[in-house]
Amino acid sequence: MIIGIVGLGYVGLPLAVAFAEEGVEVVGVDLDARKVEALRSGRSYVEDVSDARLAAAAERIHPSTRFADLARAEAILIAVPTPLTRNREPDLGPLVDAARSLAGVLQAGQLVVLESTTYPGTTRERLAPLLEESGLAAGKDFHLAFSPERVDPGRTDHTLRTTPKVVGGLTEGCLAAAVALYERVCDEIVTVSGPEVAELSKLLENIFRSVNIALVNELAMLCDRMQIDVWEVVEAAATKPYGYMRFDPGPGMGGHCLPVDPFYLAWKAREYDTPTEFVELAGEVNQAMPYFCAEKVARALNDHSKAVRGSRVAIVGVAYKPGVSDLRESPALKIMRLLADRGAELTYHDDHVPELSGFGLQSESLADALEGSDAAVIVTAHPGLDPRAVVEGAPIVIDLRGVTRGIEAGHLTRL
Ligand SMILES: NC(=O)c1ccc[n+]([C@@H]2O[C@H](COP(=O)([O-])OP(=O)(O)OC[C@H]3O[C@@H](n4cnc5c(N)ncnc54)[C@H](O)[C@@H]3O)[C@@H](O)[C@H]2O)c1
Repeated sequence: MIIGIVGLGYVGLPLAVAFAEEGVEVVGVDLDARKVEALRSGRSYVEDVSDARLAAAAERIHPSTRFADLARAEAILIAVPTPLTRNREPDLGPLVDAARSLAGVLQAGQLVVLESTTYPGTTRERLAPLLEESGLAAGKDFHLAFSPERVDPGRTDHTLRTTPKVVGGLTEGCLAAAVALYERVCDEIVTVSGPEVAELSKLLENIFRSVNIALVNELAMLCDRMQIDVWEVVEAAATKPYGYMRFDPGPGMGGHCLPVDPFYLAWKAREYDTPTEFVELAGEVNQAMPYFCAEKVARALNDHSKAVRGSRVAIVGVAYKPGVSDLRESPALKIMRLLADRGAELTYHDDHVPELSGFGLQSESLADALEGSDAAVIVTAHPGLDPRAVVEGAPIVIDLRGVTRGIEAGHLTRL
């Protein structure tokens, strides 16, 4: 079997490798020639795919910048970005571009599955008409389905194979074709009545997280005023064996999904005169967190009779979450910008992110970053970080992730 994957990023590349590992030939198309070149020379740029794993699957993966190569595929999965415009509205530009290019090479009998996260209706209302510019009819001449990607970069306990895959087809035939495809790489397929249900189920999953994170973040801000340890509260609540699911507060949401996806639903909901206040409020609370955290750093400095201006602040961890190098929407960048605007001199330590070109900074060893600092801020605690070393190495420490729990020191404050 030959399949095609459009977009070889955090989602597309692991998918390509998973199919190749099952003996499927994979034509991977990406507009980014650097990614195609990296794959051709055996270099993975996604943490979840090691170079060794890529090498083992490489003879079945054919990276390309040419859509024409997709004509020979039986199925084509689309995993291009679905970002927001500057006004925080859905930006389907990459999807529309990919669909137009695909329409130029689409063949009768092919299956096309959209994996990108998007609002309900995208597959039927936007993707199908674009693909039909090929002269072929969706659901008749070619199959079309939506199946949300559920990958969580950096996670190893749940894989593509062990995570149930939700699939919704335009027709029964489309659904059957998509199920037959995913059965090769997933143990459990969850079929739903149409693409809209599959699209909305993915948004529900992400908005569920966004709302719950906003709830504990709001509580963290209240606890700060009330001088109650929010981590102790969360830990106590989490001992309830039913009816409670633990979420931890933090400096704000990052990555391609949680800060972006809720706005896709909120935008679509306006078409139906139905405000999604919960969804938007969660976004507002989470967006406020970097500001709150920067203020907390300023307060900690003030408590030690120091101003932000001129203070040397070491940021520990800048990726948006532990174990990855992804900087997209990372709250660390926002906090750094806010502190730099107030005159702080910044250094940072992050083994996953060698440089921050926007700040003209390069990652230093933890010891070098802490050396001579006035304060250290733990924004992202990668695996292997020794919180005690941070507490012992800086005159003021602000921990935004709760990893210093159990350590008591006068110069240490936590979110
Ligand atoms: N990263 C995640 O954890 C995650 C998890 C679940 C779902 N998703 C969703 O999956 C989708 C892809 O996300 P990602 O993180 O893999 O993005 P990404 O930016 O890592 O990868 C997307 C790739 O698509 C390529 N591309 C853009 N336009 C193209 C075009 N017209 N033709 C061909 N290639 C094109 C880009 O060059 C890039 O390499 C998004 O909708 C995202 O919301 C992401």
